[in-house]
Amino acid sequence: MYLTISMNPTLQKIICFSSITKDAVNRSRQHRFDVAGKGLNVCRVLSQLGKEAVHLTALGGETKSLFLEMSRREGIALQWVESGIPIRFCYTLIDKEDSSVTELIENTQPVVAETEGRFREAYEELLPRCGAVVIAGTKAGGFSGELVPFMVRRAKEAGRKVTLDLWGEDLLKSLPYSPDVIKPNLAEFAATFFPDAAGIPGKEQVRALCLKLCREHRCAVVLTRGTEAVWYAEGEAFAEYSFTPVAETVNTTGSGDAFTAGLAAALGDGRSLREAVAEGVRCGSLNAGFLQVGTIRG
Ligand SMILES: Nc1ncnc2c1ncn2[C@@H]1O[C@H](COP(=O)(O)OP(=O)(O)OP(=O)(O)O)[C@@H](O)[C@H]1O
Ligand SMILES: [Mg+2]
Repeated sequence: MYLTISMNPTLQKIICFSSITKDAVNRSRQHRFDVAGKGLNVCRVLSQLGKEAVHLTALGGETKSLFLEMSRREGIALQWVESGIPIRFCYTLIDKEDSSVTELIENTQPVVAETEGRFREAYEELLPRCGAVVIAGTKAGGFSGELVPFMVRRAKEAGRKVTLDLWGEDLLKSLPYSPDVIKPNLAEFAATFFPDAAGIPGKEQVRALCLKLCREHRCAVVLTRGTEAVWYAEGEAFAEYSFTPVAETVNTTGSGDAFTAGLAAALGDGRSLREAVAEGVRCGSLNAGFLQVGTIRG
């Protein structure tokens, strides 16, 4: 069983317009309302791939029962601890005229002090039943910088496969525990390892750092780059995986989460890193064809 984690659950409205005019009344063509959040999206896609998966998150506020009911209806196996704060709303505005996708993300209050202890306990309870762990996305305020490294350490001590779709301090502090694969997008990778650089570093610089990370932390590195070829590194080898972008996308938000699910699923099946990247690309492409965020099925 896969255990996916997110510490920032979301209720997501996706609203699609023929065109959007600022400072005017805009009427939508189509809309959706879904449960979301990086780790939950990964859990959904893993389930769609036929894998047994459970999602751990922290929930609170008036919309908690709605979140649980919507997850249940989608068949997402959810374990949760009380966060003491309302679930945030995110809005995706799709403008068909210029094909823009605009994300509006509410900030959240910090989770209450007891949340992290409850989260650690729930994690420890689930870990013995799970063969692989996927941790994705940023944390809500109130969680400490120790939580993610703790989860990676415990999973690796227990011999579990660990995939990390995260960046910044959480990634830096987790690397010493040798996650199996890290999968930020290139911009997140650059912000983590080249924080002072003016732009995105070039391929040679990225390649050298990927190989250093593989060597020092015995992990594989996979970097997605939107519609550009995926860069990946393992052991002494750095390579790229090219693909043809979807010509007519509906919504590419969550393609990274679908990619993560495909990658983790294939690695869990014992396939090579290149095959796992190919499966990630397949799932990322499928997600781009749907309005819902983090799905490979309509
Ligand atoms: N237009 C597209 N056509 C086909 N595949 C796409 C397209 N956009 C993204 N993908 C697939 O999804 C993968 C991940 O995309 P991207 O690098 O944008 O992830 P991300 O920034 O982490 O996205 P998110 O966090 O919103 O899910 C890409 O490597 C690619 O395989
Ligand atoms: Mg992403």
